[in-house]
Amino acid sequence: MRKLAAGNWKMNGSPMSLTEVTLLVKEHPAPRCEMLLCPPATLIAQMAWHVRGAALKVGGQDCHTAASGAHTGDISAQMLADAGAAYVILGHSERRADHGETDALVRAKAEAAWDAGLTAILCLGETGAQRDAGTTLRVVGEQLAGSVPDGATAANTVIAYEPVWAIGTGRTPTLDEIAEVHGFLRAALAKRFGAEAAEMRLLYGGSVKPSNAAEIFAVPDVDGALVGGASLKAADFGAIVAALSA
Ligand code: PGA
Repeated sequence: MRKLAAGNWKMNGSPMSLTEVTLLVKEHPAPRCEMLLCPPATLIAQMAWHVRGAALKVGGQDCHTAASGAHTGDISAQMLADAGAAYVILGHSERRADHGETDALVRAKAEAAWDAGLTAILCLGETGAQRDAGTTLRVVGEQLAGSVPDGATAANTVIAYEPVWAIGTGRTPTLDEIAEVHGFLRAALAKRFGAEAAEMRLLYGGSVKPSNAAEIFAVPDVDGALVGGASLKAADFGAIVAALSA
């Protein structure tokens, strides 16, 4: 399995930010892990052109379920692919919260992503209240069952466990807590997809930074990271790539 360091720029960045990308690919010309950045949609084509031939893949942060049509303001998976994307993040907690995205919608988006040849990064995770109530495994189990379509393979799907309370807060679960959820997700995937589950990448996301990346990557069943804030700076994201490649 090739591990994955994925960066999510969210609604940040400008054409100027491509200088950070230049630095990143210069410092990490051939990392052992896969390296991915998901900028805002307006920068995908530019970034993909900028890094052509380099060991950096580009992805989107969302797509519509339809291939085309009367959906003002939306972007289809094929449009992301046409712009140079290889991946798309789906069901991020910010989209679930800001846009009311349900598991069923995320599942339909994943199928649309596959139809366009994209690999879907499906996000799930509990809120702080759900963790405090002791329902973390039930919540992520339901999200996994509801958001991941039946045709998932190691090639077309990546799962990202992102506790909502850890995103952008500087707080992270303990390593044991991460291990518990990732082990649970691996077992749930194995039950549904059999041997394929061992090859499916399980990312941890939520306040991953250079100072905690190595210890998180040493946790069993953590096959990479989905990184928000720390993916905006080449030095920080590069350090996370290096930790995952070690
Ligand atoms: P963060 O975001 O790394 O800034 O906590 C993670 C994410 O939302 O993917």
